Amino acid sequence: MGVAITLRGLTHTYRTSDGPLTVLGGLDLDVADGGYAAVTGPSGAGKTTLLSLLGGLEHPQSGRVEVGGQDLTGLSGDELAAYRRATVGFVFQHFGLMETLTAAQNVELAGTLNRSSPTERRARALELLDAVGLAERAGHRPSRLSGGERQRVAIARALVNRPELLLADEPTGNLDDDAAAMVIDLLEKVRGEHGCTLVLVTHNRHLAERADQRVPLDRGHLIPAVV
Ligand SMILES: Nc1ncnc2c1ncn2[C@@H]1O[C@H](COP(=O)(O)OP(=O)(O)OP(=O)(O)O)[C@@H](O)[C@H]1O
Ligand SMILES: [Mg+2]
Repeated sequence: MGVAITLRGLTHTYRTSDGPLTVLGGLDLDVADGGYAAVTGPSGAGKTTLLSLLGGLEHPQSGRVEVGGQDLTGLSGDELAAYRRATVGFVFQHFGLMETLTAAQNVELAGTLNRSSPTERRARALELLDAVGLAERAGHRPSRLSGGERQRVAIARALVNRPELLLADEPTGNLDDDAAAMVIDLLEKVRGEHGCTLVLVTHNRHLAERADQRVPLDRGHLIPAVV
């Protein structure tokens, strides 16, 4: 199951020591339920900021952010946390795994956010690691895994609460071409099997072309399509 995304007039301004910095300037965007959007653009374009807003890591300041019919504007911090837990899975460029935990424990830890028992969490972690082809690596710590394997663990972790929206911020940025292809194949497979909506940030033009929809950002604005 996925979610539709509707953004209207989305504006985001950071407070910095040099004064306000407007990063997104009135962005409008629609992604279909179960859609696959690739966000591209130069460094500083606002790609991570956009993902943070979609994922409820940042509060929308002005404009409308609607995900699965739920308006995120005006939600409290606790409500946004509940939204993240129920709806969103995140995958980051630097994997974000805990170095002192095994692959299985990293996945299980994410599952502690819901109400399942430790036995259920362990079974779910092993099932997900199996699904990403890492059943045999379940007991390894991240330092003993390759970059591609770490990212596959991170994807397993992102799936633990059965997200309807999968947000991946340059998930292949630290990987060689073969590992990158495997990670993107896996994200696309997950989307196919679970029907979740996938928003991928990438600098790689070839990867972006695989999405159903491209979102080219420049300084917080959508670049109009060249016709
Ligand atoms: N928490 C913050 N406080 C202040 N400024 C921020 C903050 N986060 C991002 N910025 C600034 O906002 C702008 C957009 O940042 P963002 O991280 O969204 O860009 P990006 O497109 O993801 O770039 P990159 O490709 O380098 O990851 C940048 O100029 C950045 O310095
Ligand atoms: Mg970024």
